[in-house]
Parts: sequence; structure tokens; C-alpha cells
Amino acid sequence: MDDLENRVVLEIKNLSFSYPDGEELLSGLNFRLEKGCSAGIWSPNGTGKTSLFKIITGLLKAKSGEILLYGKSVQTEEDFRALRLKVGFVLQHPDDQLFFPEVIDDVAFGPLNEGLSEEEAWVRAHETLVSLGIEHLEHSLSFELSGGQKKLVTLAAALSMKPDVLLLDEPTNGLDAAARKRLIEIINRFEGEKIIISHDPDMLAETCSRFFTITDKKLSEIKAPQIHEHRHSHFFGAEQHSHN
Ligand SMILES: Nc1ncnc2c1ncn2[C@@H]1O[C@H](COP(=O)(O)OP(=O)(O)O)[C@@H](O)[C@H]1O
Ligand SMILES: [Mg+2]
Repeated sequence: MDDLENRVVLEIKNLSFSYPDGEELLSGLNFRLEKGCSAGIWSPNGTGKTSLFKIITGLLKAKSGEILLYGKSVQTEEDFRALRLKVGFVLQHPDDQLFFPEVIDDVAFGPLNEGLSEEEAWVRAHETLVSLGIEHLEHSLSFELSGGQKKLVTLAAALSMKPDVLLLDEPTNGLDAAARKRLIEIINRFEGEKIIISHDPDMLAETCSRFFTITDKKLSEIKAPQIHEHRHSHFFGAEQHSHN
């Protein structure tokens, strides 16, 4: 393996995809997630971001192209199962991801699937909830939680597997300011690589090191921040002041 391959965690080569009877959604898409990189993706609705995450994790099948994890091609269902142990995927809507009545069962599900004993899985789940500061929700019923709490539980479910890479789909969508801030802190504490889809550019700027958008059915990198002006008003705005 040369140095470049050593640095690349996840690679997508020449990927094309369409839903049955639909026109091509992604075409000739290339992407490289290098070690230590956090990639933010912003693009209009319907451009295929969520579909891309589902293709990476094997929930949808690409028409053509290749996905490589640590330089190894991921092809069979078994390969994708192994990938899902290393690449944690947090869906946009928590209700699509929480299956059990009690929080702890959802968070322990991944570790159990990974082959840990029931006791080990519960310990891992408990530790993960503690690390997110939501251990008090351990025996709560998921359907009774607020949207923000559910988001944290789905993140806990992904983190409890100790993934190398996190894929987050609209993690701050629908969160209030305090929950959003907390989520950003948790995302930044995660040491592995990340790909984050979001319509929240400020959150992406705080959590990511590279920025992409989908244009012409491909991921393209935005290399420099765009200078733009805002007009806004607030009390004492006429006095000299700064914005942090
Ligand atoms: N299961 C599906 N079957 C057919 N078309 C779908 C399905 N899921 C999504 N689509 C369509 O694919 C396009 C891209 O969807 P999606 O990947 O969710 O985009 P994004 O996440 O960028 O908003 C949309 O036009 C959507 O309607
Ligand atoms: Mg989406």
C-alpha cells in the first residue's frame, strides 16, 4: 500500500445511481475521505445526499462504481455488514432508527450485533449514554422523548459501536439552540472521520474541515469560504460593536 492509500479511509469511485424507473440521480461521483478529515455536504433538497449515505452503507445498491474502505473494495452483503460495524450512520429522522421501547435497548443493539455479550453490550451502552450526558434517559421510552433527546439517542446508538467513521444526516435539524450546541460539542469530541449532511452551514463550519456540494450529480469541493454581506438589525446596533 502506498502512502496515499494509507491516508484514505473511505473512497467512492465513479459511482452512478438511479432509483428504479427514475432518471440518474448520481453520476460519475468521486470522493475521498482522508484520515482525520471531516467533510460537510450542503446541497438543495432532492439532490441525492441521503441516497448517497444509503449507498455507502449498502442499504441501496449503486448501478455502477466502487466503494472502498481502507483501500479494500466493498462489494458483497457480507462486506457491507463489516463496513457498517466501522461506519456509523445516523439517519435524519430518529423514528426511522429507534426500534425498541427503551432507550438502552437501542443503544445496546449495535454492540450486541457486533458480538458482545448482553452484559458487555449493556455496559458499553451505559458508558456511551454517560459520555453524552443522557444516562438519565437510559430507561425512558423512546417515543416519549423530545426531538432533541431522540437525536442524541440515535447518535448514542451509532457511537456505542465505537465506529471509525460517522455519517450524520441533518443532525441539527429541528433542534433548539441549546440542543444544537450540545450536539456540535459531541460531534467535535468524536475523533474519527465524519461526513455530515446539513442545511446548517454554521454547524458545518464548526465541525468540518472540508466542504462539498452536489452539482451535476457529483460531489464537488468548495475550496474557499465565500465572502457575503448581511443586513440585520438589533437594539444598540448604531453603536460601535463586534460580532463573535
Ligand atoms: N425510495 C425511493 N424511491 C424513489 N425515489 C426516491 C426514493 N428515495 C428518494 N427518492 C428520490 O430521490 C431524490 C433524492 O432524494 P434524497 O437522496 O433523499 O435527497 P436529499 O437527501 O439530497 O434531499 C429525490 O427526488 C427523491 O424523491
Ligand atoms: Mg436527505
